[in-house]
Amino acid sequence: MKFLPSHESDLRELLQWRRDVRNFSTREIEPEVLAKLEASIDLAPSVGNSRPWRIVRVSDEENRQSVIRCFEQQNLAAACDYKDETQTEYLALKLAGLKDAPVHLAFFTEPDPEEGRGLGRRTMPETLVYSTIMAIHTFWLYSRALNVGVGWVSILDPEEIKDILDVDNNWQLTAYLCVGYPKHHDDKPELHRKGWQHDQSAVWIDR
Ligand SMILES: Cc1cc2nc3c(=O)[nH]c(=O)nc-3n(C[C@H](O)[C@H](O)[C@H](O)COP(=O)(O)O)c2cc1C
Repeated sequence: MKFLPSHESDLRELLQWRRDVRNFSTREIEPEVLAKLEASIDLAPSVGNSRPWRIVRVSDEENRQSVIRCFEQQNLAAACDYKDETQTEYLALKLAGLKDAPVHLAFFTEPDPEEGRGLGRRTMPETLVYSTIMAIHTFWLYSRALNVGVGWVSILDPEEIKDILDVDNNWQLTAYLCVGYPKHHDDKPELHRKGWQHDQSAVWIDR
């Protein structure tokens, strides 16, 4: 397969318009679209091809509500780390679309998967979590290509999420994703639009 210049410009646009989404329409994702998104994860790289991701579809309403409560508690605790007008600014940010997103996915990492037979991770076991993150990014970009939005929620207590979802205690919560059709599309991160922060240039060093 040889890629054409049009592939590069399409990919650039996809990357430029990929967003972390917190405002979802309540429109359900069609099963065939969801199936494609789920299948995209199989295309992700992983250390020693260990595929250590374990993904929970959180559709039980009680579980969803428990996750929302966990987020609200942790978000309030996070707000207490800021003072004065910065705290007010923080509280005005929308940092999760948990209530509206039709699909919730919890991505865990299995810390000792049989697949891959340990290859590549002896000195850097953290590469297992990196692998799950590669799967998430693959899923994120593929979602965008189908006009589906993804919002990453890390303002959660991972141990509480493990309890709520009743998963293997060894698994490590790597990401909790909201997935659904976005209310709007944008080529600027929401935190920039709200004036919370702006990007610094990447740090490059020559040796
Ligand atoms: C590891 C990780 C955790 C994140 N956690 C949250 C979160 O808890 N809440 C939130 O609103 N955004 C979260 N984000 C999204 C970032 O805020 C977002 O990617 C960043 O502001 C840049 O915006 P963009 O993704 O639209 O380019 C997270 C992103 C990553 C990669």
